[in-house]
Amino acid sequence: MKKYLLKCQVNGKNIEREIRPDKTLLEFIREDLGLTGTKEGCGEGECGACLDLLDGRAVNSCLMMAAQAHGKKIITIEGLRDEKNPLIDSFAKEAAVQCGFCIPGFIIKAEELLSENPEATDDEIKESLAGNLCRCTGYKNIIKAVGKVRKKCLK
Ligand code: FES
Ligand code: FES
Repeated sequence: MKKYLLKCQVNGKNIEREIRPDKTLLEFIREDLGLTGTKEGCGEGECGACLDLLDGRAVNSCLMMAAQAHGKKIITIEGLRDEKNPLIDSFAKEAAVQCGFCIPGFIIKAEELLSENPEATDDEIKESLAGNLCRCTGYKNIIKAVGKVRKKCLK
């Protein structure tokens, strides 16, 4: 299969890689770049575990081809960690993490929301995170953790 030269920016670094054209964005991020914070849950767009930011929008990387990221900026959970994003601390402080598998997706989605709407209400937070599934936490502390960061934004 003929390879394709993908050029994009990932967590602030310019990347150029030859990839198979049938590679998903999730496979590219996890296998080619070794950024395993992006998780594969359902692989079908149903759980939100694989979310990354693509030019600021949270996208299901399991449903996208890597080639669709050509020329774009990708931020993964590792990028948010490196820039000390306050959501990460807040999830830890509010005990919003149990096994942790779903958490990168929640944080990516919450980052998209608060970037667009720093005054999001609890209902807006719940609505925004409705596509993210967690098998462990019961969601309450997750909503609280996102709400605490919103309050910091409002100070
Ligand atoms: S792994 Fe992509 S939405 Fe579940
Ligand atoms: S913390 Fe385990 S699936 Fe969410």
